[in-house]
Amino acid sequence: MKILVLHGPNLNLLGERETEVYGKVNLDEINNRLKRLGSKYQITIVTLQSNCEGELINFLHKANDEASGVIFNPAAYTHYSIALRDAIAALTIPVVEVHISNIYSRESFRAKSVIAPVTIGQISGFGLESYSLGLKALLNHLDFLRE
Ligand code: DQA
Repeated sequence: MKILVLHGPNLNLLGERETEVYGKVNLDEINNRLKRLGSKYQITIVTLQSNCEGELINFLHKANDEASGVIFNPAAYTHYSIALRDAIAALTIPVVEVHISNIYSRESFRAKSVIAPVTIGQISGFGLESYSLGLKALLNHLDFLRE
């Protein structure tokens, strides 16, 4: 089984960007941790990041043919990208939305996700663990992991 972990804009700067909010761990380390977790479950984790909305949409379209599900941190696009929302609505594979920070305890403009209604669920506020929790939730949804 293959799962895509997709990171949106500015997440390439993790580890150096607003470390008081997002922590000091960089994107490569997050991806490596997820790949290790994946190999524990004998699944393949593919990781991609883009700062461009259109490229994220193309990655999602491609994932529909190649992956069983997606863990997606849409970053700032969470709050306003109808194009990404529509791309997810068009998929036949499940998507879990994840956020490192708790988007409901920050500025009011972050408290809305246009993406969440077209996902199977959202995990927000658990730091880097949001990704591994998201992966477990997705595998559970796919009936791959029942704890
Ligand atoms: C984020 C939260 C978003 O509001 C923000 O724009 C990000 C990161 C998070 O993971 O907490 O870039 O998605």
